[in-house]
Amino acid sequence: MDTLLIFDFGSQTSQLIARRLRDQGYFARIVAGDCTCQEAGIDGSIKGIILSGSPFSVYEKDAPKLDQDVFKQGIPILGICYGLQRITQDLGGSVEPRHTREYGRASLQKKNEHLLLKDIRDGFQSWMSHGDSIQKLPHGFEVAWESEHGIPAMAFLDTKTIAGQETAKKFGISAPLMGIQFHPEVSHCESGQSILHNFAEQICSMKREWDVSYYLEEAKQVIAETILARSELQGTGAEVLLLISGGVDSTVLGALLLKTMDPDKLHLLYVDTGMMRNAETDEVKETLKSLGAKHVHIVHAENDFLGQLAGKSDPEEKRQIIGDLFITIQNREIVRLGLGSAYLLAQGTLYTDLIESGKGVGKHAAVIKSHHNVRSPLVESLRNEGRIIEPLAKLYKDEVRALGKALGLSPKIVWRHPFPGPGLAVRILGEVDREKCAILRAADKIFIDELHKRELYHSIWQAFCVLLPVRSVGVAGDMRGYGYVLALRAIVSSDGMTADVYPFEMKDILEISGLITNQIKAIGRVVYDISSKPPATIEWE
Ligand code: XMP
Repeated sequence: MDTLLIFDFGSQTSQLIARRLRDQGYFARIVAGDCTCQEAGIDGSIKGIILSGSPFSVYEKDAPKLDQDVFKQGIPILGICYGLQRITQDLGGSVEPRHTREYGRASLQKKNEHLLLKDIRDGFQSWMSHGDSIQKLPHGFEVAWESEHGIPAMAFLDTKTIAGQETAKKFGISAPLMGIQFHPEVSHCESGQSILHNFAEQICSMKREWDVSYYLEEAKQVIAETILARSELQGTGAEVLLLISGGVDSTVLGALLLKTMDPDKLHLLYVDTGMMRNAETDEVKETLKSLGAKHVHIVHAENDFLGQLAGKSDPEEKRQIIGDLFITIQNREIVRLGLGSAYLLAQGTLYTDLIESGKGVGKHAAVIKSHHNVRSPLVESLRNEGRIIEPLAKLYKDEVRALGKALGLSPKIVWRHPFPGPGLAVRILGEVDREKCAILRAADKIFIDELHKRELYHSIWQAFCVLLPVRSVGVAGDMRGYGYVLALRAIVSSDGMTADVYPFEMKDILEISGLITNQIKAIGRVVYDISSKPPATIEWE
């Protein structure tokens, strides 16, 4: 498939660049900004390269560097912000901190025609976010657009000039090379989508091939080939194990596998940790059966999980215990089911999971939370043996939902809010026990039922309750009492990478709070979390 490759230098908006392109049907893939051409997997499918922004300045010692061979690939390159400054610095120009920093809207004036800004109006409002600016462009570069402060906003290597040809020859450049100082991926940037479209279509001649039906066919083929290769290797039909969490991703993957392979060879393992949502286990069982699953294994492991979590309050320790226990149970079940050492493990890993686990963007990525099983030793060793199937790893959450819809899953499942692997454990701050799980589950049910009744559920990306490890004084009748403090969280987002707080009508939030404190004696006070991500994360632990 025609692909745009994004070299990510650590900007908050690299993800958005890929999203904006994919929304228009152009497939984009992100790699670490400092990886080599070989590591980036540059082949004939790569029609264009985008160099992202960065929190670094190009002149800083630790600033991420670009493999200079990228310039020699004969593939058009667009630098965005740091990307343009990287090009400038690498090809002999200079970048410096400027007194006139540009943040926010900036209107741009056209100086030269260029295909990248075809049909964009003179004076359009771009979106800037830079403290450094180009002091001197490399030899043979021209400014096409500039800001009110006279700072180059779009520049390109002009190979119609002798100077441009000299630079192209010196650095082995044979395809269009350009950069912009502003951020077309940000929704406040006027015509941002058109600019990205111009790059993809006018400059890279990309075909719009990315959509869910195309993806579905590709995924089916990859799954079938992986299973076939494994079967040939071991001389019998390979069996596949999928851990089902109750969330959208693993359910969609289950549906995909059931459509792709012999259901008799697929084992669906669901571990009830005792920290699930209300009625989750029954719902999961029902859904899988309705999809034609033959082997659904439900493991009731509440005692194991709550036993090991007793007395533990450190968030990372809790996650570690839960992650390890999942693996222990998984290993135990593999033996019990007689899967031996030859099975394939399917995982509902998404693109954002890889990125947030620090796999997607190389040295400069921070591991935000030890998400999922992406980095567990078992998974790593299976991965090295080629025994992991992760057909959703190229997708964002809303693309998984579209895939679920295409696979015929019911809207109730497809649009269910995400739920973290460690379950209620990361929503009960501090120590977890059976009683707290029951309190939180009951409160969460009231909250979610009310969102459905008020027709708010689908306007919210994720909503849930959090039980705080503090008790606060209250009065009920004439009695003073100490009840738990419960926080409500409701956010809007497109993929969980960033999030805004859902702006409830006061009436709704007051009524929901009243219902919770009236119906659940143990809760004395309800608060609403008004933090966006960043700086907060969506979950509290
Ligand atoms: P955060 O809290 O990192 O959450 O802003 C982003 C999205 O990921 C979910 N989440 C997890 N999902 N295992 C999961 O499967 C985890 O450990 C985990 N932690 C957070 C979270 O619910 C939100 O949708």
